[in-house]
Amino acid sequence: MASASITRKQVTELREELTRFSMAYKFALDEITTRVNILQEEFRLTHENSPIEHVSARVKSPESLFKKVYRQGVPLNLQQIRERIRDIAGIRLVCSFVSDIYRVMEMFARQSDIEIVEVKDYIKNPKPNGYQSLHIIMKVPVFMSAHTEKVYVEMQIRTIAMDFWASLEHKIYYKYNKQIPEALTNELHEAAIAAAHLDKKMERLNNEVNVLKAHDGEDDLLVGREDLGQVMVELMENIGMYTK
Ligand code: GTP
Ligand code: MG
Repeated sequence: MASASITRKQVTELREELTRFSMAYKFALDEITTRVNILQEEFRLTHENSPIEHVSARVKSPESLFKKVYRQGVPLNLQQIRERIRDIAGIRLVCSFVSDIYRVMEMFARQSDIEIVEVKDYIKNPKPNGYQSLHIIMKVPVFMSAHTEKVYVEMQIRTIAMDFWASLEHKIYYKYNKQIPEALTNELHEAAIAAAHLDKKMERLNNEVNVLKAHDGEDDLLVGREDLGQVMVELMENIGMYTK
C-alpha cells in the first residue's frame, strides 16, 4: 500500500470504525455459539446422543485477514471487506457420523432468522488433496443498541476422522512451506480415503446398534407407581436442570 499521511482525527475515526467492524464478528460468533450450545443441551437433557461432538470458533486474526484482502485484491474499504471476505467469523463443528453433519446443517437451515448463502460440499466432492468437510456460509443477525446487522459466518462441519486428517494436513502443509513432496501428497490422499472408509464403517455399526436398542423393554410393567402427580415430580427432578 502507498504510504500517506494520516491525521490524528482520522486515526481516531478509523479506530472506532474498526472496533465496530470487529465487534460484529465477535457478536455473530457469540450468537451462533449460543445456538450450538442450546442444541447440545437439548440433546443432553433428552438423553439423546448429541450429533455435535465438539465446537471451536475464532475470529480471523487481523494479519491473516489483511493478507487475504491483498491476495484477493479487495479494496481497503471495510464495506468491501465485509461483503467479500466471508470467513472472518468461523465456527467448526465436529460430528461422529457423516449423516449427523447433514442433520446439523438442517437444524441451522430451519432457523428462520439465519440465511444460508452458500454451501460447499467437500464430502460429496472432496478436494483433489482428499480434504472433506461441509462448508456453509450463513448470514447471522446481530441485534445491537441502534441497529441490526447481518453478519457472514463460515461454518465448517466435519467428522472426527475428517477433522483429524485436516489438522494433520494443515500441519504438514505449513511444515513444508505449502510445497508438500509428492510422496507425502499421495499418502495424505490415501489417508483421506481411509478416513472416509472408517466413517462409513462406523456409521453402519452405529445403525446396527440403534436397531438393537429400539423398543428395548418398552412394555415392561412398573408396579406400585399409581400416583401420577408424584411420578411427574420425581421425573422432573431428575431432568438434570433443577437444583435440589
Ligand atoms: P479461503 O481458503 O479461506 O481463502 O477460501 P476458499 O474460497 O478457498 O474456501 P474453502 O471453502 O475452500 O476453504 C475455507 C477453509 O476451509 C480454509 O480456511 C480451511 O480452514 C479449510 N480448508 C479448505 N481446504 C483445505 C485443505 O485442503 N486442507 C485443510 N487442512 N483445510 C482446508
Ligand atoms: Mg481455501
